[in-house]
Amino acid sequence: MIQSDLDLFGEKSQRLAAHTVLFPGFALAHLETLLDALRPVLRAAPFRQMSTPGGQAIAVALSNCGSLGWVSDRRGYRYTSHDPLSGEPWPALPPLLAHLAREAAQAAGFADFVADTCLINHYLPGMKLSLHQDRNERDFSQPIVSISLGLPAVFQLGGLARSDPTQKVPLNHGDVLVWGGEDRLRFHGVLPIKPGEHERMGSRRINLTLRRAG
Ligand code: SIN
Ligand code: FE2
Repeated sequence: MIQSDLDLFGEKSQRLAAHTVLFPGFALAHLETLLDALRPVLRAAPFRQMSTPGGQAIAVALSNCGSLGWVSDRRGYRYTSHDPLSGEPWPALPPLLAHLAREAAQAAGFADFVADTCLINHYLPGMKLSLHQDRNERDFSQPIVSISLGLPAVFQLGGLARSDPTQKVPLNHGDVLVWGGEDRLRFHGVLPIKPGEHERMGSRRINLTLRRAG
C-alpha cells in the first residue's frame, strides 16, 4: 500500500493512490448536524430495495438527494431527476453535505467540486457491495467523495481492470474517502459488514456518496 501521511486541514490523511485520499474522522465534527439534515431527506425519500438490470435484488437499501439520484431497475443503471417511488423530485442536497464534500475534495486536490447528487446506501451486517466501477456520471474529471457512518467496513480499492489486485481500506464512522483523476474509474467494493452495534448509529452502516452526475 502506498501510504504517506499528509497534514491537510490539520487532519491526518492517508494517500492510498495517486488521486485517492482517506481523511479519517473528517465528518465527525459535523455529525449531529449531518444526521439532522438527513432525517427529512429520508422521510421524503425512504430507503428502498432496487434491483439490477438482470432482475436480482440489490441487498443494500438505497436512497438519494440532490438534483439527480442514482437508480437501478430492469431498464438499467442511471440517474433520474425524480424519485420513482414518490414521483417527486429527489429531496434537495443539504448544504452542509455539499460543503463537506467540497472541503474534502479540495483537501484531496480537486478544486471547486460541486456535487449534484448524494447516493445514500444502507448496509446491515452481512451485506456487501461487489467490485464495480462508477461510470454512470457524465464527467469523469469530477471526483467521488464518500462519507462512512456507523459500523466499520472494509473498502476494496482495486485497479482499472476488474482482475487487478485490491487494497483493503478500513472505513470507520466519520471517515471520508475521495478518489478522482486517474483513479476515478478504479474498481471498488465493500466486503461483508461484520455484525456489531455502533453506539450512535446502531447495527447499520450508512454511506453517503457525493458525485457530480449531470
Ligand atoms: C459505492 O461504491 O457506491 C459505495 C461505497 C461504500 O459504501 O463505501
Ligand atoms: Fe461505487
